[in-house]
Amino acid sequence: MRVKAEVKKEKSYITTPLYYVNAKPHIGHCYTQIICDSVTRFLRQCGHQVFFMTGTDEHGEKIEKAAQEAGFEKGQEKKFVDTIVPHFKELWKKLNIEYDHFIRTTDKTHEDTVRKVLSTLYKKEKIYKKVYRGWFCTPCEMFWTNTHAPCGICPDCKRNLEKLDEENYFFKTSEYKNALIEYIEKPGSVNPPIRKNEVLSFLKNNELQDLCISRPKTRLSWGIELPFDKGFVTYVWFDALINYISGIGYSDNQKQFKSLWPHAAHVIGKDILRHHAVYWPIMLLALGESPPKHIFTHGWWMIKDEKMSKSKGNVVDPMELIDKYGADAFRHYLLSAVFFGYDGNFSERLFVERYNNDLANDLGNLLNRTLVMLDKYFNGIVPEPGPIREEDIKNAAIDLPQEVGASFAHFNTCSALKEVWKLIGRANKYIEDKAPWKLAKENKEGLKSVMYELIQTIGITAVLLYSSMPDTARNMWSQLGMKSDITSVNVYSKPEEKEKFWGIVPSGTKTAKAAPLFPRIINR
Ligand code: ME8
Repeated sequence: MRVKAEVKKEKSYITTPLYYVNAKPHIGHCYTQIICDSVTRFLRQCGHQVFFMTGTDEHGEKIEKAAQEAGFEKGQEKKFVDTIVPHFKELWKKLNIEYDHFIRTTDKTHEDTVRKVLSTLYKKEKIYKKVYRGWFCTPCEMFWTNTHAPCGICPDCKRNLEKLDEENYFFKTSEYKNALIEYIEKPGSVNPPIRKNEVLSFLKNNELQDLCISRPKTRLSWGIELPFDKGFVTYVWFDALINYISGIGYSDNQKQFKSLWPHAAHVIGKDILRHHAVYWPIMLLALGESPPKHIFTHGWWMIKDEKMSKSKGNVVDPMELIDKYGADAFRHYLLSAVFFGYDGNFSERLFVERYNNDLANDLGNLLNRTLVMLDKYFNGIVPEPGPIREEDIKNAAIDLPQEVGASFAHFNTCSALKEVWKLIGRANKYIEDKAPWKLAKENKEGLKSVMYELIQTIGITAVLLYSSMPDTARNMWSQLGMKSDITSVNVYSKPEEKEKFWGIVPSGTKTAKAAPLFPRIINR
């Protein structure tokens, strides 16, 4: 087995949003997690050094209200959030989400960092006080002006807004408009292009209003107190965005911060694009730091064409689906059903259809019948290849890592998996075309080649499925008779290295008895 080369590793720092802890997580949250986990796993297979961070957003009016509704008294909010956070952690464990750090905005280091950032910006005179007259949407935790919400209705969630007329602190965002446009226009900053254009057109058509970053304690006390005025707490978005730097040591481990921050890739849903692509880069520019290298924005999971959301109450419980169909089937569905950036309608019927087609039929049958034939014709031992018969299946297999890599570079797991399934389809057709059962009677050398090619193709497929379905890939690897840990196999993504992949399951390997990967679902 090849050992990963000791070369200077490429780095990535991948983040998810910090989810509000006003309720349990749903499929939408799982989607972001699974994409990030899958890309992290793939990059690690390619030898990259990846730091993957996720966590929870725990302050603000929305959480304070949820705590009260759950029967917690004012001042007991931390106790409330402590009851919700385990639901997230439990779900991520069940889904095999392997993060390096789980940050909570109630962590002391995070709170200290927020205070430090506020003090720095206050000293730099980037923060000032004035009367705020406008609107606030609690479910979205968003301020709106009369221009954007003339009828007092939230432009995003269409609910009634709350009128505010109070003194507050403001962050001078307006002076950074040109620097921000320059950042957004940089190739690769905001992805996919439709989102880049959305932000640019917002910036070109709107005055950039200074951002209100406080709430008076008379109105809200569940937040981080402003270090320069005890009468106010920090606006929850200003607090939460700072996690991306507080979690990697901005105030307590500069060495780590400096090594990771230039490689930051934030993965978010399109609902929070403006916070990430407008306010967050400006906060960083004001601090003298560079804006995030990449922002990848995915679409929404919908139910009957409406966004699935906790506050609308139309959410699907992921736990039920995982218990019913397994974590890998659930991961596969979310990763493969929707092209990155687009919206998708969730339906259990489509889930089952994809499960049966992709997993039970295409993948499951390929592994099963190949192992059964290998057992029958060669006692389960991978033969030495005869003269190569079909260069095209070999070429398709060894070209696959680069194709998958190109899609993963854009977090497009759907197109990566499409490529993998093209190879699976090809391998199934190869069996039909070559008819090993005929070769067994007529051409033993030819049979050796065909079986060798099929086993190599399945080996490569298993390695490339590890990022999306880690348990299944391990299972396939062990059915192939491989004793090593599948994660020790380096995915070669350079064209000149592709030949190294052929022979991944060496001749002479004793494969295991075939066991179905995904039993077909007949009735639900
Ligand atoms: O916005 N489809 O938290 P949040 C796809 N705390 N993804 C979805 C989704 C759906 N229907 N619903 C939610 C917040 N998501 C802030 C973030 S970051 C510093 C602070 C996913 O609990 C998606 O990633 O409302 C979306 O951006 C995020 O959850 C919003 O989670």
